[in-house]
Amino acid sequence: MRIWAHRGCSQRYPENTVSAFTKASEIKGLTGIELDIQLSKDGHMVVIHDERIDRTTDGTGYVKDYTLAELKRFKIAAGHGKTERIPTIEEVLDILQGKLRDKKLKLNIELKNSIYPYEGMESRIVSLIHGRNLEKSVIYSSFYARSLEKIRLLDPEVELGILDTKCSDCLYKLKGGCGAAAIHPYWRAMDLPSEVLNGYTVRAWMTGHLYPEKPTGTRLDMELLEHQGITDIFLNEPEVYL
Ligand code: G3P
Ligand code: CA
Repeated sequence: MRIWAHRGCSQRYPENTVSAFTKASEIKGLTGIELDIQLSKDGHMVVIHDERIDRTTDGTGYVKDYTLAELKRFKIAAGHGKTERIPTIEEVLDILQGKLRDKKLKLNIELKNSIYPYEGMESRIVSLIHGRNLEKSVIYSSFYARSLEKIRLLDPEVELGILDTKCSDCLYKLKGGCGAAAIHPYWRAMDLPSEVLNGYTVRAWMTGHLYPEKPTGTRLDMELLEHQGITDIFLNEPEVYL
């Protein structure tokens, strides 16, 4: 089973922050890191999961309605009186790019564009990744198959993963020709016999148990997940499995 850090190490550090990504980048044996991007009002790619800033920052409103300078004013509580800010994708790449270039780590960039399509986000991210020569270490994913098609047109060599909840819906979208080579289903929605998944890369994702929730101590049975056809898993606490 290949292990990925979901939104960085997001159980013990605030999700999608510099501290969560820095911690993840230090884990030996980690396959890669997953993160989410959206566009600010002035077109900057910021790393944040929700379309609204309310859950993870001290602000309120939509990411798309704030400029980057405005978004940077909002604080993310990081414990012990410390705070962080919403990072730009450039700031995260600055931390990870050594390991990405050395092929020691992969990066899964999820375009959060199934609610707001964020016109032009595909070309911005593809050109940024190319500009830094990181294209061989990046996998793009989205719940929005049309967005993956656009990325494929921008760069025929890219690796794409199609997201959905049910495994069968992922496969349906993949076969629809969005250009994805891998499927990214919810780990509890493996609704296909494992034989059907032979030969596919199946990166399953989890939700819940995010910082500042306390770790539960519950551990996944990786063998069982492998038997279901899962090849990779995005975890909030990869550090306890490696
Ligand atoms: O990319 C896998 C996973 O992150 C998708 O769900 O809601 O955590 O972005 P979500
Ligand atoms: Ca995600």
